[in-house]
Amino acid sequence: MMLHVPEVLSRDQVRHIRQTLDATDWVDGRATVGPQGAQVKQNRQLPELSATGRELGEIILKALAANPLYFSAALPLRTVPPLFNRYEGGEHYGLHIDGSVRTVPGTNFSLRTDLSCTLFLSEPDDYEGGELIVVDTYGEHEVKLPAGDLILYPSSSLHRVTPVTRGARVCSFFWTQSMVRDDGQRGLLFELDQNLQALRARHGDEAELVALTGHYHNLLRMWAEL
Ligand code: NI
Repeated sequence: MMLHVPEVLSRDQVRHIRQTLDATDWVDGRATVGPQGAQVKQNRQLPELSATGRELGEIILKALAANPLYFSAALPLRTVPPLFNRYEGGEHYGLHIDGSVRTVPGTNFSLRTDLSCTLFLSEPDDYEGGELIVVDTYGEHEVKLPAGDLILYPSSSLHRVTPVTRGARVCSFFWTQSMVRDDGQRGLLFELDQNLQALRARHGDEAELVALTGHYHNLLRMWAEL
């Protein structure tokens, strides 16, 4: 399942993050990929152990923790500290798949990448190109979102970023291990939860809705791995 989560960050938060990032030094983006990715990746990133990156990443993690739509879709167990990238002057990232397991640098902590997230920090009008293209069984999906919005998609998907031919595309990106490993099961839980919430808003806590909410939790109990 691919999901657009709008307004994860406020305008003020985006402005603060951008001002800090624009005054920071960037390194070659190939620092965080394996040999296959290195052949097709051409962009810049904040160093993984950058104190500035960690500080800005905390703002994003806090915003995600308070976002019910993100929680319902991702059912997050653990998330790597968010990273930041920048594409300009024709930079791009060719077709690739994200590594299945990531170790957080400087720790013994690893996670399985179930979900890949890109949080846009540039307005779409500020750059040309830079679309995130995600391939799934239904074809190719093109993504370019307002600053502060996030796209979430299964890490098992091939994807690429088209060349940025004008302006700069600045984003945060990170991976989440979900409590529910299987994308299909996670998608069923998401739809059930969203529909239950809509029905509850319309009808209040009717007995049938209470029973179905119990089903949601019992399915989650059956499928969650902690
Ligand atoms: Ni990727």
